[in-house]
Amino acid sequence: METYGTLPDGREVRIFTLENRNGLRARVTEYGAILVSLEAPDRDGKLADVTLGYDSLAGWLTNNSYLGATVGRFGNRIRDGKFTLDGKEYSLAKNNTPGGIPCHLHGGIVGFDKVLWKGEQDGNKVVFTYVSPAGEEGYPGTLTTRVTYTLTDDNELKWEAEATTDAPTILNMVHHTYWNLSGDPSTTILNHVMEIESDAYLPTDAGLIPTGELAPVAGTPLDFTTPTVIGDRIDADFEALTLAGGYDHCWVVRRENGTVRPAARVSDPVSGRFMEVSSDQPAIQFYAGNFLDGTAEGRNGVRYARRSGLCLETENFPDAPNQPSFPSSVLRPGETYRHVMIHRFGAE
Ligand code: GLA
Repeated sequence: METYGTLPDGREVRIFTLENRNGLRARVTEYGAILVSLEAPDRDGKLADVTLGYDSLAGWLTNNSYLGATVGRFGNRIRDGKFTLDGKEYSLAKNNTPGGIPCHLHGGIVGFDKVLWKGEQDGNKVVFTYVSPAGEEGYPGTLTTRVTYTLTDDNELKWEAEATTDAPTILNMVHHTYWNLSGDPSTTILNHVMEIESDAYLPTDAGLIPTGELAPVAGTPLDFTTPTVIGDRIDADFEALTLAGGYDHCWVVRRENGTVRPAARVSDPVSGRFMEVSSDQPAIQFYAGNFLDGTAEGRNGVRYARRSGLCLETENFPDAPNQPSFPSSVLRPGETYRHVMIHRFGAE
């Protein structure tokens, strides 16, 4: 544990390093419970950072793209920034306007990615805790949350979220690292090979909010049931892709929720690095970094261009609070929210 920097209000921010016996190294910070970096070996054993990020705390303070972030309370979009729970309507910030249509995104103006967590390291684990006051960003209930990062000797980086509430609320916590397995984020992820354990995706409207329909991936450019090069079909003339400007969709993960099962696998043919993602959540968002536009200056002075990193975010369905047919995102007093996400790294 070291001091990483100080917030504008004077509070100290700390950073922690996890290292395993194979040389993998992860750094995590109390600011946003963010994964700052992850170094993984290529097929020749050469380590490189496979995440997008910043050189110092100052960069993370202006992190508008949610790099490395722990997103909450509600990851992904909520239609019109509104939902009704037990007969009462709640209004949230409309902080995103895809297609010119305002919606709530990733917890609001000051989401979990922009608050100071309290971190504690215990061997290969760092536990971050945060109590979100009732009414924060418009959400009901005092939420007591915990996010644990664990780096195992099996080359797994686990991100686990847990939460309890003192009043009914909604919740969808998400881990939002951008990956570029080449280790060189001045290149794009278009040559990466993707496989998603899913037979159906959620089509959206122009505001990127699910319509409620579950559409089969078969015969569409969203079919990743077999390993497919991302760049092969990302710009195909297919409505879902033209609306989102590329891959930015929620895929329904095969097999039962609530048990940890494989969700996706991505590999970089050049370095040989691969990453397998598994989770207990109903779905996974694959976002190809289409909105990165080269304005943010990242680590080592690299400006993150369009599609220079990809996100694989295990989650509940976007806009679940407004869609009765989607899995429930309601958390009530006495219940515990749990989300397990495992990234396993290797090289081939
Ligand atoms: C998510 C969404 C994208 C985009 C990014 C943040 O992954 O799916 O549409 O909003 O977050 O820039």
